[in-house]
Amino acid sequence: MRIEIAADATTLAKRAASAICDVARAGAHPSIGLPTGDTPISTYEEIARRVEAGGCDLSRVTAWAVDEFAGVPRGTPGTNDAFFLRHLAFPLGALHLPDAGAANAARDIAAFASRLRDAGGIDLCVLGIGTNGHIAFNEPGSAADSPARVVDLATESRNAHAAAFGSLDAVPTRGMTLGVADILASRAILVLASGAAKADIVRRAIEEPPSAAVPASWLQRHAGVTWLLDAAAASRLRAR
Ligand code: PGA
Repeated sequence: MRIEIAADATTLAKRAASAICDVARAGAHPSIGLPTGDTPISTYEEIARRVEAGGCDLSRVTAWAVDEFAGVPRGTPGTNDAFFLRHLAFPLGALHLPDAGAANAARDIAAFASRLRDAGGIDLCVLGIGTNGHIAFNEPGSAADSPARVVDLATESRNAHAAAFGSLDAVPTRGMTLGVADILASRAILVLASGAAKADIVRRAIEEPPSAAVPASWLQRHAGVTWLLDAAAASRLRAR
């Protein structure tokens, strides 16, 4: 595991953009997993600036959303579909998402994960971490070998999305997620965390023995994980 500490959120976004642009340059068919959330927005903005300036090209990249809400029409404001439409302001080779409006969400997310495996998996899976330790929608209780599946969303996760959906009641109670197993099958993983509110869960994920109580702690089992933190998110880590 590598831990990189950026002085602030702007520097974090620049480093994350560099990592993503580097993967886009490598290999014949680069593939990345992409998260939603407040943290990656400035990274996506930085990538858009670099693409505009000619310093980055994601037009050959196949991107895979790591999760999506379930039970609302595709594109509903607040869904990850709507998020990516708004925040990925640069050409991408392809963007695959589970279908929030699928009549059978369990079948849809299983088919999504199977398409991902058939396409050769993920070169770099970019993740955020929830204050409850989730990665993608793998909420506390998720096992290391959990597959792609439909999940009940934690109250904490639904609260975090209330504004985007307009109210807490409008936030779906279920989501579709790549499993911890799918994430660990990625060739490299980059976790982004910014701000003091993440400091305690980042410490637990990195320093406590891996357990389902903090799904992000399963990332300790992958040799190619980089934690990219700003100083506030890193502030509770023991000196190393
Ligand atoms: P955030 O979300 O970037 O909005 O804090 C992270 C997450 O829940 O994965």
